[in-house]
Amino acid sequence: MKITMIAGSNQRAATSTRLAEYIKHLATLEGHQVTLIDLYQTPLPFYSPDDANAGHEALEKLKEAMLEAEGIVLATPEYHSGISGVLKNALDHLGQDHFNNKVVLSVSSAGGAIAVSSLTQMQTIVRNLHGINCPDWLSIGGDQRKNFQTGVTYQDIHPDVEKRVRRVVGSFLDLAKQLTVKLR
Ligand SMILES: Cc1cc2nc3c(=O)[nH]c(=O)nc-3n(C[C@H](O)[C@H](O)[C@H](O)COP(=O)(O)O)c2cc1C
Repeated sequence: MKITMIAGSNQRAATSTRLAEYIKHLATLEGHQVTLIDLYQTPLPFYSPDDANAGHEALEKLKEAMLEAEGIVLATPEYHSGISGVLKNALDHLGQDHFNNKVVLSVSSAGGAIAVSSLTQMQTIVRNLHGINCPDWLSIGGDQRKNFQTGVTYQDIHPDVEKRVRRVVGSFLDLAKQLTVKLR
């Protein structure tokens, strides 16, 4: 399957982005074709209804990868009980064409214990875009974020965290596969 991931942090060493990279690693091992768009590496212009930004290279790549996607992963840091500005801006550039009937996994990193607010906000946006929210979501909070700091290898991720990530990614991929077979 083609999976498109958006890492919605504007920070070089973001734990949410590192977690997204680990999810990409797991899905690639399963034979999926994964495109990870890191909004820190490839910044997008501010969305404006007055200006379509036609021809903007990063934006065109994002739209193409989202159109082709059979499953989507959105990752964000939790900022002020919501998603990051850069992720919201990226989503404002997109529409139902990119999300319709596709399974979406929401992923977030928070300073607090659980990133419920940003995950809930992402799922609300996904519903509006006619995507299908994966029943599972992934949150790393507090000390769990240490597993995704720079320099920590995948082998050093705490077994409990690794087990949870693998279980959630597995159920996301299963659901996306089932829907892809039925609808496309
Ligand atoms: C502007 C800002 C707002 C934040 N708001 C929250 C918040 O509302 N709740 C929370 O648990 N953590 C909050 N944090 C902490 C971040 O969620 C935490 O550092 C997280 O790990 C960032 O993810 P990242 O490593 O992917 O950048 C905030 C951090 C910043 C910089």
